[in-house]
Amino acid sequence: MTTPIHPAGLDGSGAMFDAIAERYDLLNRLMSFGKDRSWRRQTASQLGAPKRALDLATGTGDLAIEVARRNPLAQVVGLDPSTRMLDVGRGKTKKLGLGTQIEYVQGDAQSLPFPDRSFDAITMAFGIRNVPNRPAALCEMARVARPGAKIALLELTEPSGSGLSVVARLHVHWIVPAMGAIISGSREYAYLSRSIAAFPAPDAFVQIARDSGLELVKLVSFSFGACHLFVFTPRAEGSS
Ligand SMILES: C[S@@+](CC[C@H](N)C(=O)[O-])C[C@H]1O[C@@H](n2cnc3c(N)ncnc32)[C@H](O)[C@@H]1O
Repeated sequence: MTTPIHPAGLDGSGAMFDAIAERYDLLNRLMSFGKDRSWRRQTASQLGAPKRALDLATGTGDLAIEVARRNPLAQVVGLDPSTRMLDVGRGKTKKLGLGTQIEYVQGDAQSLPFPDRSFDAITMAFGIRNVPNRPAALCEMARVARPGAKIALLELTEPSGSGLSVVARLHVHWIVPAMGAIISGSREYAYLSRSIAAFPAPDAFVQIARDSGLELVKLVSFSFGACHLFVFTPRAEGSS
């Protein structure tokens, strides 16, 4: 697979995540003070009762696992370009006895290997920020979602404003890269801070999603704007 260039000159490709796959879950817990779990739970709770769900940028599978646990009758597909992240996810899924419910597929959110209208829920946690051509990925979500499907995207955003959001900005831009470098021994976590700064503000992202065929159903802000949950549904045919 060729890796397209990120518009902000950043590298959020699967290859980068291959390098940190084994330490990814631990770093996630530490850097978010354990909040990433409750954010994923709230994301999975938006979906109704899907029979077939797709988790994009599934990484080590935490959100796919959450969706499967909440919906024991659902078949869940987790997609990601990073083989090593997927390997960690497969191992965890097998240990939890969810191997028949969750299937992992290597792929790119910008060009999904699924037919039109094939999922009744789509999720993506901390993934859309890494995708170079975000409108292409959002159009693909609109294409593979069934009418009325919920598309729940969780993403880290630049905390804005004064007061505690200043502390949140300090955490994202100074503490996270330093902790990441120390614990993972790699510089990949400097990318996290740069990619958050380069991600559009929530309102601008909602407009990009609208232009890509999605309607906003709900927008929730967590931790002083450090993270947002966007819930969309595909625009009904005939409406503009
Ligand atoms: C920060 S991790 C998020 C993993 C997981 N969703 C979670 O909640 O922890 C970002 C993931 O995005 C994946 N990714 C990067 N580019 C992608 C693309 N074009 N399409 C789909 N996933 C992509 C990476 O391989 C990585 O696993």
